This record gives sequence, structure tokens and C-alpha cells, in this order.
Amino acid sequence: MENLNELLEGNENWANSIKKINPEFFKKLALQQTPQYLWIGCSDSRVPANEITGTLPGAIFVHRNIANVVQLTDYNMLSVVYYAVKYLEVQHIIVCGHYGCGGVQAAMSSKSYGFIDGWLSNIKNVQRLHQEQLDALETEAQRADRLVELNVMEGVRSLSEISFIQEEWKKGKFPKIHGLVYSLKDGMLKDLDVTADCPECVAPALRYQLD
Ligand code: CO
Repeated sequence: MENLNELLEGNENWANSIKKINPEFFKKLALQQTPQYLWIGCSDSRVPANEITGTLPGAIFVHRNIANVVQLTDYNMLSVVYYAVKYLEVQHIIVCGHYGCGGVQAAMSSKSYGFIDGWLSNIKNVQRLHQEQLDALETEAQRADRLVELNVMEGVRSLSEISFIQEEWKKGKFPKIHGLVYSLKDGMLKDLDVTADCPECVAPALRYQLD
């Protein structure tokens, strides 16, 4: 691949195909965005939020990083969440992991990946917290799949810990924070049923007094 021609041609075809169905689509979208969802997913090229949910531009506000880690000292992630919650007023936050996640597999191994080790330590800590449960599983593949799920659940829990999220919950029932896992094998999303939407969803030690 010597240049970007493939991408630019693809873009032209895509824009034309949308304009054919809805000539006003881009004009309307240029004026404002009103997404209902914030997506926190893995950077993996096989898990693009819009495509796998069959949605168009404008539907999902997106943040992606290696292995969809929610880390509360990450100002990039926190700024995205703050803007989505306070300004866009999204009703749903989705933490989406995926089976076969290279970041999770790397975190499970004892191999050093240099600079990325610090980032992967977040997942290593999830592993440490649930070591017993993971050790009880028979195969490495099962342990990897479970760690993908646990990492998502930990992400939902960490988001629930944010004071400005708890502030929103005091006002109403949004945002709801969901944990999903995507399967590369069949393209399907699975709901882990760990939705958090109230201060009571959070351990007492992590609740803020917000009056
Ligand atoms: Co991944």
C-alpha cells in the first residue's frame, strides 16, 4: 500500500451511498450531534463501534484504547466521559470488551511489552483480584475469555466510582453503565448484565456524599 487511495476512494463511495439514501444526512449532522451512547471499547481494528451495532455517524460518542481499560487517572478517558455525560447527556455508557483481545492476552503473559507494560498492569491487577476464580478454569482460552469479561466488569465498576457520574444518578436514572463483550467469531455482542445506574450499585466505601 503506497498511498491512501484505497481509503479515499472508499470514503467517496461511502459518502455517495449515504447521500443517495438520504440527501440531507451530512447537512443535518454537520449542525449538531446528539448521540445517546458513549462507547468505551478496545482499539482493535476488528471492533468498530458503529459498524458492529449497525449505526451511522452521529449515534455513538466513542473512546477506544488498548483493551478498553477504564483507569481513573486517565484524563483523556475522563474528559470524554465528562463531556458525554454533562454536555451530550448520553443515557447509556457501554464498556465493550472482546474475546480474543490481544491486550488481555498480553497482560496474562509474563512477557514484557516495554512501554505498554504500565498500561497492561491495569489488567494484570484485575487478574490478581480474581486469581482464584481464573485458576479454577480448565484451559488458558477459558481464563482469557473470563479475564476479558472481568476487565469489562471492572470498567463498569470504575465508572460507577466517578463522583460526577454519581452526581447524575442523584438527579435521575441516567447514565446507565453497561458491560458488553463482542465475539470476533460470530460478530455478536453479549450483555454481561452488570448494568449500574444508582449509587447503591457502588460499594459503600466508594459512594460520595453529594448534597
Ligand atoms: Co482488544
